[in-house]
Amino acid sequence: MKKWYAVIGDPIAQSSSPRMHDAWLEQLDLDATYVPIHIREGELNEGFESMKRLGASGWNVTVPHKEAIVPLLDRIDPLAHRMQAVNTVVIEDGAYVGYNTDGIGFVRSLQEAYPEHEKGNVLLIGAGGAAKGIAFAMQQEGYASLTVANRSVERADALARALGDGAKSCTLEEAERQFDTFDVVVQTTSVGMNFATAGTPLPVTRVKEGAIVADIIYNPLETEFLRQAKRAGARTLNGLGMFVHQGAESFEKWTGIRPDTKSMIQRLTDELGGTTC
Ligand code: ATR
Repeated sequence: MKKWYAVIGDPIAQSSSPRMHDAWLEQLDLDATYVPIHIREGELNEGFESMKRLGASGWNVTVPHKEAIVPLLDRIDPLAHRMQAVNTVVIEDGAYVGYNTDGIGFVRSLQEAYPEHEKGNVLLIGAGGAAKGIAFAMQQEGYASLTVANRSVERADALARALGDGAKSCTLEEAERQFDTFDVVVQTTSVGMNFATAGTPLPVTRVKEGAIVADIIYNPLETEFLRQAKRAGARTLNGLGMFVHQGAESFEKWTGIRPDTKSMIQRLTDELGGTTC
């Protein structure tokens, strides 16, 4: 039987994952397809059973099911367990196993764009699900220190506590004052996404020499935050690489083959009408 993979979520029609995975499957001449499946909040149990019954070979999980799927799985990978969130389901010897490739996707995209960068002091802006995944993955990769800044500082405190190992928390104002002490800054909030919220979570005026400033948003490709960082002299990275690399990590878990990320980033950049980084 032809294999099929999927992404489940609500909304799902806007997802670029099917185009990306189908392009990789075709490039690699694999007889399989990848489809978007609309599963509403509260309908995950039935949805999960249907995926099993219909013989999906693996699938991605997006909003609003990333946390709700955890108790339905047979096993969960340690990083996904720490996050209590899953974005990839892999079938291993008949068992449904949950992984989370979002954070490692960010790390791989940073490594691909700036292979020589120093694993120095990191500032994470935001303390939601996206920040959590990136924080745990960067910690696992051995970055020197992590500081979490958030509008509601209690959420930053909670994430720093969950990270342990000397992780710090601060307000957005404190982060703004210390901005030029960080080697890598990652903007993980929704501010600037889809042009729906204008502006930046904090202004970027001074950056450390050689610093990398990343935004996980890729629509638009260049947020106001990245524009300000570039003007201040930073090397920048938009969120498209994270999107492509989280997909590539899932694809590799399902097929055992690492797909071509660089050409996919270029292709999606062209479609979105911009330049890479
Ligand atoms: P996700 O899972 O995508 O990270 P989330 O859990 O809703 O989504 O988190 C959104 C993040 O964006 C949070 O850090 C949020 O800050 P609060 O915890 O204070 O709500 C941040 N955020 C959203 N809108 C913001 C704004 N206008 N200014 C600053 N931060 C904002």
